[in-house]
Amino acid sequence: MKTYFASCPKRSEEFLIEELTTFGVKNIERKNGGAQFKADDLTALRIVFETRLASRVFKLLDVYPIKDEKDIYKKVTNKWWHRVFDNDQTFKISTLFDTDAHNFFKNSMHFSMMVKDAIVDQFRDATGRRPNVDTVTPDISLLVRVEGRGREPGFNAKIFLDLTNVPLSDRGYRRGKHKAPLRENLAANLVHIAKWDFKKDCLVDIFCGSGTILIEAALVQLGLPPTYIKIKKARRGRTADFAFLNHKWFVDNEDLKKWVLDYFDKVIEKADEVKNSTSKNIFGSDLDIAFAQENIRAAGLEGHITLTQSDFKDYQSDCDTDGLTLISNPPYGERLAGGEELYYQIGEALKNNFKRSTAFIFSNDETLRKKIFLKPTRKTPLFNGPLDCRLIRYDIN
Ligand SMILES: C[S@@+](CC[C@H](N)C(=O)[O-])C[C@H]1O[C@@H](n2cnc3c(N)ncnc32)[C@H](O)[C@@H]1O
Repeated sequence: MKTYFASCPKRSEEFLIEELTTFGVKNIERKNGGAQFKADDLTALRIVFETRLASRVFKLLDVYPIKDEKDIYKKVTNKWWHRVFDNDQTFKISTLFDTDAHNFFKNSMHFSMMVKDAIVDQFRDATGRRPNVDTVTPDISLLVRVEGRGREPGFNAKIFLDLTNVPLSDRGYRRGKHKAPLRENLAANLVHIAKWDFKKDCLVDIFCGSGTILIEAALVQLGLPPTYIKIKKARRGRTADFAFLNHKWFVDNEDLKKWVLDYFDKVIEKADEVKNSTSKNIFGSDLDIAFAQENIRAAGLEGHITLTQSDFKDYQSDCDTDGLTLISNPPYGERLAGGEELYYQIGEALKNNFKRSTAFIFSNDETLRKKIFLKPTRKTPLFNGPLDCRLIRYDIN
């Protein structure tokens, strides 16, 4: 068993933990912006491929108890870094402080420089050469998380290897630039929190924008891992999305390599099946559906999502199941002109056009949300980037 850390948007931690337990991992510890857990390497790779909620997954290399920055240089120099990566691989280091460490150290760039110098000096001493830094497309991306030790003095500097480099939230189906798309793993979390029962209920988004909620819901319904587009690329030899494919711990393990190749083939077969099949219980509408159309096409999900160009006030879905789950994030953020009227009309549309549905509205503006004039049955606080939002549930009679 090794130690891993999965990161996620702030306030999504408890939902990430729910997801991680489904992989059978052990000793899950909640952290700010993620969770640390123990798993074998194969389970960790399944998490990389199949997590819908994590932004990245990291493998713990070492934990150094430190008092100050000088300590970190000394401790990092002691590690045999050429066993972790090669001289001819490029690398990058980022540092994150928890609240205690932030108050003490302040400058994360400087901290990263100390770790970089230590690694470079250790390589030079051991091999006579040094690897280069590449901050844009490195082969090896290291994260240093510096955490306080509760009541004990000092800090723990944990050095992690980033298994993906490209964030897992970046699925690869986005085309063009929509104004305010949700991050894909946040959209997936809205579907997770809504507990949409795709065997019984339709799913509708009346402000679908670039289609993120619809696409993430379809991937859940169809049982496709969210990395299927990256897997197709990797199988064709374009491996940049999965940094671990070039990590020594992976490259030296023949069984793991074989498992990954078989897994890739199964996922590609499944994605082809999905592309050639149809289903009809996910519906979206918006004033402008051009971006959603493009993204759904890029995702290969045209057969599974029905789009209608419409003002939400006039929209009625063709859902023919008894139950309906609506998940939408209406325009918000800036005080839009006519915003109060728009939110009032959302309440009217839910009452009149979505009777007996379970509706979830995601928004950061409390004043606007109150204009819906329906009684919320649950409020889940979540961050959308820096915006402090709520996912509000309404059970419509
Ligand atoms: C915050 S964005 C939704 C983003 C979406 N969740 C995504 O991930 O791309 C709000 C959307 O509401 C749409 N919209 C604004 N007024 C509308 C109206 N009266 N009827 C339907 N859609 C509307 C906008 O076109 C925009 O796409």
